Amino acid sequence: MNLTISIVIVITLSSLFGWLAVRAGQAKSRPAVRWVGAGLAGLLAVLGVFVIGLALTGLFRFYLPAAAPAPELLIEGSPAQIARGERLAYLCASCHSTASNLPLDGSAENFSPAIGTIYAPNLTPGGPLQHWSDGEIMRAIREGVHQSGRALVLMPSDQFHSMSDSDVQALVVYLRTQPAVGRQTPATELTLLGAILVGVGMFPYSPQPPIAGPVEAPPAGETAAHGQYLLTMAGCRECHGADLRGGRSQFVPIGPNLLAILAQWSAEEFVTTIRTGVDPYGHALDPETMPWPAYAAAFEDEELAAIYTYIRTLPLTGEATE
Ligand code: HEC
Ligand code: HEC
Repeated sequence: MNLTISIVIVITLSSLFGWLAVRAGQAKSRPAVRWVGAGLAGLLAVLGVFVIGLALTGLFRFYLPAAAPAPELLIEGSPAQIARGERLAYLCASCHSTASNLPLDGSAENFSPAIGTIYAPNLTPGGPLQHWSDGEIMRAIREGVHQSGRALVLMPSDQFHSMSDSDVQALVVYLRTQPAVGRQTPATELTLLGAILVGVGMFPYSPQPPIAGPVEAPPAGETAAHGQYLLTMAGCRECHGADLRGGRSQFVPIGPNLLAILAQWSAEEFVTTIRTGVDPYGHALDPETMPWPAYAAAFEDEELAAIYTYIRTLPLTGEATE
């Protein structure tokens, strides 16, 4: 149901119960009946006010996030950058395309009908981004803010917040070189439940702290620092857990403990598993739950080896850290 209508209904009901509470309190019936009636109606009135308070908090967070102005720049874009951007774009394809592949023509489905109308928009030059500046797209990716200044929801900018200037610019250049696909996804809207969940912080809310200075990636190479950089933007923690020791969230596929598994594998075995989707024991990974084809397309062997190096530096047991 439309959010405005829902709020009007809650306000009307809340006022009605408030009025009933006052009436019941003044009624000439027996005191017990009078006070139970007034108490019940009063409780419902207060509940209504509470619901409206949470929904308004959610709307405030949705429409007025703490956001910095989008950077002003025009990205030139070399062929090498386009190639780099195309690889990174595979990390967006599970949400932003009809076929979990390039081009990023927008999701086919509403992600969460109970929460609102939430589609991952068409990111080809045929979609809304044709009217966005390069800086506005960069801000959306890393800081989770829409062109209009409102918050994005569900878009995982927490994963992309540490993306280097060079990588995010490569993405923007690539997005603009895709074939223009004309499909449009519906505008994002929240239901009353969605507004309440955003209000209490129980629905993925994208805004991130503004990026003030230049952001550089760790030098390329099979190092843990480079691996950590790539693993963060790949979103492995979403399913394998914040500490990579196994996922717990029921909302995404539950990935196994990567620290324990990779302790038994060589770097080559890990790279081959992601390239082929078959692990060293001959087990074929389900691409519906473990998006290995996207990672195979996004990362070069050296980058996968860096991810392996990073995971192997994490302590197998003991205090869980991120
Ligand atoms: C988990 C799913 C998911 C992934 C992965 C994802 N996005 Fe999004 N993205 C969304 C959703 C949903 C929205 C719409 C959010 C809203 O309107 O509040 C969005 C919005 C955006 C927008 C704003 C577009 C507009 O018209 O409003 C941009 C730009 C964007 N995403 C870029 C990217 C890029 C680039 C990547 C990959 C590096 C990516 N996204 C990965 C879900 C995702
Ligand atoms: C959308 C959820 C999801 C994401 C994101 C994800 N995984 Fe997985 N992963 C799974 C699931 C579920 C399995 C088990 C799949 C199966 O056995 O078919 C799995 C299995 C694996 C395996 C094989 C384990 C084995 O014993 O064969 C490896 C290795 C792995 N993931 C590494 C990664 C890495 C590295 C990343 C990030 C670059 C990642 N995963 C991101 C869900 C995910």
